Amino acid sequence: MQIFGVDIGGSGIKGAPVDLDRGDLAQERFKVLTPHPSTPDSVADGVREVVEHFGWRGPVGLTFPGVVTDGATIRTAANVDKSWVDTDARALFSERLGGLPVTVVNDGDAAGVAEMHFGAGKDRRGVVILLTFGTGIGSALFVDGILVPNSELGHLELHGQDAEKRASSKAKDDEELTWEHWAHRVQKYLAHVEMLFTPDLFIIGGGVSRKAHKFLPFIEGIQAEIVPAQLQNNAGIVGAAMRAATDG
Ligand code: BGC
Repeated sequence: MQIFGVDIGGSGIKGAPVDLDRGDLAQERFKVLTPHPSTPDSVADGVREVVEHFGWRGPVGLTFPGVVTDGATIRTAANVDKSWVDTDARALFSERLGGLPVTVVNDGDAAGVAEMHFGAGKDRRGVVILLTFGTGIGSALFVDGILVPNSELGHLELHGQDAEKRASSKAKDDEELTWEHWAHRVQKYLAHVEMLFTPDLFIIGGGVSRKAHKFLPFIEGIQAEIVPAQLQNNAGIVGAAMRAATDG
């Protein structure tokens, strides 16, 4: 079965039909740049462009980089235009896509769902935490394979600051940190998350997961196993489609 998945990120809106049996893209993905300001209206136009590129007429799952309740309503918007807060994103996207059925899910949760099913978290029980390091820090918390949605662990306080402001990969780029320096920040962040949840496994996702060999060796003193994500940049698209499949 195929469902369309869209990943709405700080820099791009990416999408493709997803083969749900294989947990992979059924066609090469298509991307448009995220508009600035990233208002609901302009992002919805970007989403339409991506979906229309494939001539898709079926259910669509979308990620959003903020708290999303009931597959529909946006509650927070840390790194996108604040006018998203309280928007019924399901209604907005469905209307813009000519009435297609739509499900919206937090981007960290979507990546987590995909990794638990098809990637680094497959068959893992206990407490598993996936963290995505990008513009912000996304999180997905699982207990025996069940998602606790909207965990928002990127906004824990670290050194008196929002953790994602110190330890996201954007912070690494903006402050031109070496891998080692940034890894120390990530280590402090992981130690804090570990103190709160004592996970069995951390899965490290986001664009940096491709470069895990550059920073994971610097991370020490964490009890939990730490592994890079396996689906890498497509986890959001795949997870969004999976959520849309279970919603429909
Ligand atoms: C948002 C999360 C999101 C993460 C990654 C954070 O700023 O609050 O909802 O998952 O960024 O995009």
